[in-house]
Amino acid sequence: MIQGTCRLWNISISALVFLTLYNTMLTLKLMYAPACTKPHVPAPKPKIIYQKCDHEDEKPEHYFVNLDLSLGRWDDRHKYKLFDNIFVGDKYVLLNGLYKTCLATQSSLDKMDSLIEVSKHWNGPISLATFAASDEELNSVLLYITYLRKCDKKIKDKVAFHIMITKERMPKEYVIDFQKLQELDCNNPSGVLHQFRQQFPRNKWRAKLPYPQNHLRNLARKNCQSNYVFLTDVDIVPSKGMAEALDEFLEKSECKGKCAYVVPTYELDERVLFPPNKTELIRLANKGLARPFHHKVFIYNQYATNFTRWQTTVDEGPEIHVSHPVTNFEFLYEPFYIAPDTVPPHDERFIGYGYTRNSQVYEMYVAGYEFLVLSPIFTCHWGLQVKRTRPPWREHQNNLNRKQFDGFKKEIFARYNKDPLNMMAARKT
Ligand SMILES: *[C@@H]1O[C@H](CO)[C@@H](O)[C@H](O)[C@H]1NC(C)=O
Ligand SMILES: *[C@@H]1O[C@H](CO)[C@@H](O)[C@H](O)[C@H]1NC(C)=O
Repeated sequence: MIQGTCRLWNISISALVFLTLYNTMLTLKLMYAPACTKPHVPAPKPKIIYQKCDHEDEKPEHYFVNLDLSLGRWDDRHKYKLFDNIFVGDKYVLLNGLYKTCLATQSSLDKMDSLIEVSKHWNGPISLATFAASDEELNSVLLYITYLRKCDKKIKDKVAFHIMITKERMPKEYVIDFQKLQELDCNNPSGVLHQFRQQFPRNKWRAKLPYPQNHLRNLARKNCQSNYVFLTDVDIVPSKGMAEALDEFLEKSECKGKCAYVVPTYELDERVLFPPNKTELIRLANKGLARPFHHKVFIYNQYATNFTRWQTTVDEGPEIHVSHPVTNFEFLYEPFYIAPDTVPPHDERFIGYGYTRNSQVYEMYVAGYEFLVLSPIFTCHWGLQVKRTRPPWREHQNNLNRKQFDGFKKEIFARYNKDPLNMMAARKT
């Protein structure tokens, strides 16, 4: 009886050992089996549809767009998709090696023609970020860029373009209308843009879909390959030869710490020619045909630059030198400056209008940056600006961003443990 039970027990143990070993063997066999051959997956091709292209000699690849809408990288809040280098200037890489400063700029479609004058005056590399809020706008932006690249050698050489689209109205595909491209007059870029603009009445459009300025600034900045970045908006035109003059200046510049070199910005009467030098700019200013940017619209914008002091600075020649440091920094100051791109990013919680550039400059100030005003270089914006009432949508965006700023300034205080402008106390009183 006991013997019988024992035998049964032995059989069970043997069976268990056998099954365990078999299982192990199968597992090993699976592990070391040759990998299954994967079916060949072709690399994704950019979804470009060239419409009605019956100009064989035009060679569509000449206008190659590096844009696959099913790829792209998301912003931190998963609201926008960013695409780097959708078109790259033929000499963009070369220029980034030759020049110390890269001009980073952002533009919506309706101001894109300013790039023509900018690229005439700036011989270094240019990194431009733009935005399309829908299928139609994307098609128009791509067509207009293709047109600029076809008609303007300087743009085709110097500019790398980047684009952003919004998740809210994500385009599925895009079309470059080659038939239409042939019809666009190379000698009238502003007229051509005017036609395009009519499709997208700016106010209606931007009221619904705020323009993500700060995302675009970061996108443009981070695609610069030079050591220094000069961040502007596309309608801010640098004085001629600035890139070369900056090279000489930066070669000798003493500042190795936290400094930003401010370039004074003026606004110009539409009837004058772009001043070829500072003397001419001052002559225009004395006649009321030029004045500090936003002087009448929003004086704090550039006030701390101290234009009176800049205008009386004695320049020995065309070489750049520091005219003076900014001594009266105030909140809402937003100069255009040149700095290594290690300066704080443009905070992407600010979308649309208000607190976009000045919040970044504010952070620089808290972080301990010194602002040094350069001479005799300058930038100009076309048109003497007069104070107008803001459209309600713009007021609305500004109010939303003001609320965001409350959170932002607390974070800045926490990050640097400094409050040089007494911003934390201001609200309590
Ligand atoms: C500045 O430009 C004006 C107008 O073109 C010219 O007459 C003048 O010689 C220039 N001055 C310098 C210092 O280059
Ligand atoms: C501009 O500079 C002058 C002369 O140095 C100085 O008296 C004045 O306070 C400065 N103004 C601003 C706004 O920095």
